[in-house]
Amino acid sequence: MQNFAVFGNPIAHSRSPEIHQLFAAQRGEQVDYRRILAPLDGFAAEVAHFFTGGGRGANVTVPFKEQAYQLCEVLAERARSAGAVNTLWRQDGKLCGDNTDGIGLITDITTNLEWSLSDTRVLILGAGGAVRGVLGPLLNERPGSVLIANRTRDKARDLALIFAGRGVPVFGCGLDELRGPFDLVINAISAGLDGTMPPLATTLINDKSRCYDMVYGDTPFLRWANQCHAAATADGLGMLVEQAAEAFYIWHGWRPDTQAVINHLRQGA
Ligand code: ATR
Repeated sequence: MQNFAVFGNPIAHSRSPEIHQLFAAQRGEQVDYRRILAPLDGFAAEVAHFFTGGGRGANVTVPFKEQAYQLCEVLAERARSAGAVNTLWRQDGKLCGDNTDGIGLITDITTNLEWSLSDTRVLILGAGGAVRGVLGPLLNERPGSVLIANRTRDKARDLALIFAGRGVPVFGCGLDELRGPFDLVINAISAGLDGTMPPLATTLINDKSRCYDMVYGDTPFLRWANQCHAAATADGLGMLVEQAAEAFYIWHGWRPDTQAVINHLRQGA
């Protein structure tokens, strides 16, 4: 059986093994896909050990995506633009890396949810690694404009500069400088995970706005969006499954049926 793994710290919560096993089962196959808790100072050694032991492919999650990027000898364009790698494999003896987070988000928004991005005014909350990972694929969809708003304003501005000149206006500002409304608000503030979102003005959204949280579950951001009567809201479960599907395609050359897996996970949630 082929060996796969996801590296992170913490990692016990990861749903990647379940998702990849469900994908493989669609072809009547099984994969050995494990969670590996890498020590904070021992990621590179764990990855080397995994691949010398015959590992076929690995996913990488928080906090190792930037380290994975540094380790790779061959990088896909999406990984370069993200400055981070979430998918690893070996080819011709070289460690290769890609980043499937951005395409996962875009596929969920445009294909699963059928929310059009063209000409929309997009607000992204947060300016960390997760945002950098998705900006390239987002800009490829030609939204009307993208505003990155962050508690630390300079990080938002720096990120906007990195992604300037791609044919879409990209700006950065502080959370306290925001003026709405926006057509689409994407939340990537990691504080949302533990329920402590910063206060957001209700004027950011109106009854035509759509709100997407890159985290899955009943998040404080989505509760806020519903209280403000957003037109539609979605959590990041679809993104999670779609980024996994893209990694699965890289390793196996075959695209799984993601909707069946999203439905399965929702039912079990
Ligand atoms: P990730 O990989 O999830 O993006 P990260 O790179 O650590 O994680 O980025 C975390 C993001 O959440 C940042 O935008 C951070 O804002 P700062 O750049 O100002 O630190 C944001 N964030 C985390 N806790 C926050 C809080 N309590 N209020 C506002 N923003 C917060």
